[in-house]
Amino acid sequence: MTKRKGIILAGGSGTRLYPVTMGISKQLLPIYDKPMIYYPLSVLMLTGIREVAVITTPDDQSQFKRLLGDGSQWGMSLTFIEQPKPEGLAQAYILAEDFLDGAPSAMVLGDNIFFGHGLTEILANADAITNGGVVFGYQVSDPERYGVVGFDENGQVTEIIEKPDVPASNYAVTGLYFLDSSASEKAKRVKPSPRGELEITTLLEMYLNEGALKVNKMRRGYAWLDTGTHGSLLDAGNFVRTLEKRQGLQVGSPDEIAYQQGWMSRSDIEERSKVFNKNDYGKNLDRLIKERK
Ligand code: TTP
Repeated sequence: MTKRKGIILAGGSGTRLYPVTMGISKQLLPIYDKPMIYYPLSVLMLTGIREVAVITTPDDQSQFKRLLGDGSQWGMSLTFIEQPKPEGLAQAYILAEDFLDGAPSAMVLGDNIFFGHGLTEILANADAITNGGVVFGYQVSDPERYGVVGFDENGQVTEIIEKPDVPASNYAVTGLYFLDSSASEKAKRVKPSPRGELEITTLLEMYLNEGALKVNKMRRGYAWLDTGTHGSLLDAGNFVRTLEKRQGLQVGSPDEIAYQQGWMSRSDIEERSKVFNKNDYGKNLDRLIKERK
């Protein structure tokens, strides 16, 4: 069984954040003290994924490379793929077909933030399923903005509808998708929707029709934050700040996770902590080093 690979979809146009995103990619904007993309990257790393493709617009790719490098600082391997136009989330699987090379994948949207006790376990459970797909349903107050899950009386998933006028439930599908190795082949069969995009919901429906889709509910106690509007961007930053300030710990630190995963040695992390010696990101790394003495 080939090891699961990761995809971060970090293209798009970010029009809701204009004029902020007229000069910079949304996923490079700060969420309090880190670039947005650190948070979805952390989710893949917590799953144990070391090989990740970052999909960006052609214009923004160089900045992502400058920020993330080739991943070797974290004992990872990062590949950069261009999406010429934002033609939908399912297109990512077509663009990443060569990168995946027959491996199952975990794709996360570059502007989605997940946080909560037990997240690592949820991720491990999804990773363990290598046939079919696993996505996460999250209860929201405004489901019509998302792909919405419909359930029958036995709690079985019956449908997933993109931005429905009349939502079948309050469960939105989050931007984290664990799909098996058939995703790229299936994505090629997705026809563009009326808005001209290859919809992820259409791809998920293919899995559903084969009886091969699990929708795991993310219960109360987890935060799934979207950062696509000015207000939600600020809210997400405040959320991270509140947690970090209260606990003195970091949310979404790739350096911390890489060290905990054993992908970085002690001397690696000592070197890295010097880069950040003027702030709490670095102090957190110093704390980790001391704790392991
Ligand atoms: P959206 O929030 O749907 O779109 P957007 O980021 O372009 O923003 P806006 O609606 O303000 O114009 O996209 C969700 C995520 O997926 C976001 O991280 C961007 C990314 N994305 C791509 O990388 N390629 C795509 O083709 C699309 C549609 C989105």
